[in-house]
Amino acid sequence: MKVLMIAPPGAGKGTQGVVIAKHFGIPHIATGDLLRSHVSRGTELGRSVEQYLDRGELVPDEVVLTMVREALDSARGGGYVLDGVPRTMEQARALYEIAKELDMTADVALHLKGTDDELVRRLLARATEQGRADDTEDVIRRRLALYYEVTHPILEWYGERGILVSVDAMRPVEEVGQHILTALEVLRQVIDGNPDAPRTAVDLTGLGAAFGASS
Ligand code: AP5
Repeated sequence: MKVLMIAPPGAGKGTQGVVIAKHFGIPHIATGDLLRSHVSRGTELGRSVEQYLDRGELVPDEVVLTMVREALDSARGGGYVLDGVPRTMEQARALYEIAKELDMTADVALHLKGTDDELVRRLLARATEQGRADDTEDVIRRRLALYYEVTHPILEWYGERGILVSVDAMRPVEEVGQHILTALEVLRQVIDGNPDAPRTAVDLTGLGAAFGASS
């Protein structure tokens, strides 16, 4: 299973990315985690991106795409959960070319949908526990604004490609995880049965709490 996660800050990309990776036995590749690791280790790359992270701005495409190419190359032949990329249409196109070259284009673009008030609440709550440098209200608002400006529009492209799956991320963690895994398991059967069959976007955001409860 090859999954891209596209969602606003606080929607649960990291939380659910781990769940998906564990379920399918695939690597969870999170660009934010990779960048923060460089910053905390004080590498040259880390020093060059630290200010972007602190301000909630996007780091230059070439930095992210080089990191992602290396990570995908290491996962070659298997699946992956890519969390935090693509964030712009340019990244989406470049990522597609990289994945095509490695013969590992995405099966699913997973969109986690949330409301701004709850997203901000979650990130401010995380700030008190983890103290991430970009979890201040001003920077959270900047990250959200950037999401709507440059990231959200790329969902349409994945919708047209028929690989978009949208899930309501405003439910409890376990319930969101169940919705996601149920949808991905159904898709896995479709993909395994006929990988080249035309697909259509799937919108699960209107489904009730019972969906996936028995899986
Ligand atoms: P990144 O680390 O990707 O940050 P983000 O997109 O702002 O996302 P978050 O990590 O804040 O939220 P999340 O959706 O992962 O939610 P989480 O599961 O953690 O990127 C950081 C920075 O790196 C960017 O600003 C940019 O500078 C740079 N960067 C990264 N990728 C880049 C790219 N491709 N191009 C350019 N720059 C890039 O959950 C959040 C909190 O909510 C947690 O406390 C969690 O416990 C809680 N929570 C989760 N789900 C639920 C739930 N269902 N109910 C209640 N609480 C929940």
